Amino acid sequence: MEISIQGKRALVTGANSGIGASIATGLAAAGARVCVNYVVAPEAAELVVAGIRQAGGEAMALQADVSDAAQVGRMFAAVDQAWGGIDALVNNAGVDGPRARAWEAEPEAWERVLRINLVGGFLCAREALKRMVAQRGGVILNLTSVHEKIAWSGYSAYTAAKAGLSMLTKTMAQEAAPFGVRVLSLAPGAVRTPINRPVWSDAASLADLLTKIPLGRMGEPEEIARVATFLVSDAASYLTGSTVYVDGAMTDYPDFAHGG
Ligand code: BGC
Repeated sequence: MEISIQGKRALVTGANSGIGASIATGLAAAGARVCVNYVVAPEAAELVVAGIRQAGGEAMALQADVSDAAQVGRMFAAVDQAWGGIDALVNNAGVDGPRARAWEAEPEAWERVLRINLVGGFLCAREALKRMVAQRGGVILNLTSVHEKIAWSGYSAYTAAKAGLSMLTKTMAQEAAPFGVRVLSLAPGAVRTPINRPVWSDAASLADLLTKIPLGRMGEPEEIARVATFLVSDAASYLTGSTVYVDGAMTDYPDFAHGG
């Protein structure tokens, strides 16, 4: 089976680090032109762009806060201007927010997680869908998490946002299907990135985490990027509206834990 996304115009949000950087690099390696979105750390975005160009690919960095509708609008206009449109959007930008049980959480901090992870995904998808519906084709890939399904004490905003994003995927997939546009969720498990550095850099926390992962190890960003590349390619033409879990079976860990 050949997976090619040659010449496709892709935008990956939060692509200056972690899973986003890996997906941007992976899509470019498969032939896509990639827009590397970032909100802070432009030098990190430029590093991703430079890596793609060194490998013979095409990329550009664009700054926008995905939770701000005006900035998102300007980013899509810039992509239009550079490439005349968009074929794939990967909604990857996300934060997990401060750890706090619901009754201890600050409403502003809680809402910020919703704004970036859920509203941001919607605002970018809205701009992408306007274009994809008109051109009768395209793919939106929303990065959720195993926590779209598994509760996570201390992270109610994050879990609520990811569950919301998962349902947003399903509804947008229904709406866009008649126009030949696919919308999917990819749910990573525990992947070694900056977002969870405090966990994997501490031996005791890492050991505890690994008991919840049947494959017995954390995932690497490239393992997410390979699946993302497949999902946005035509090889996945009959996949829409669903969540693909790439988690070493972590989603099933409650059963695993009790089944010994
Ligand atoms: C979180 C990580 C966590 C993983 C598994 C992800 O959604 O961002 O911090 O390690 O879920 O719990």
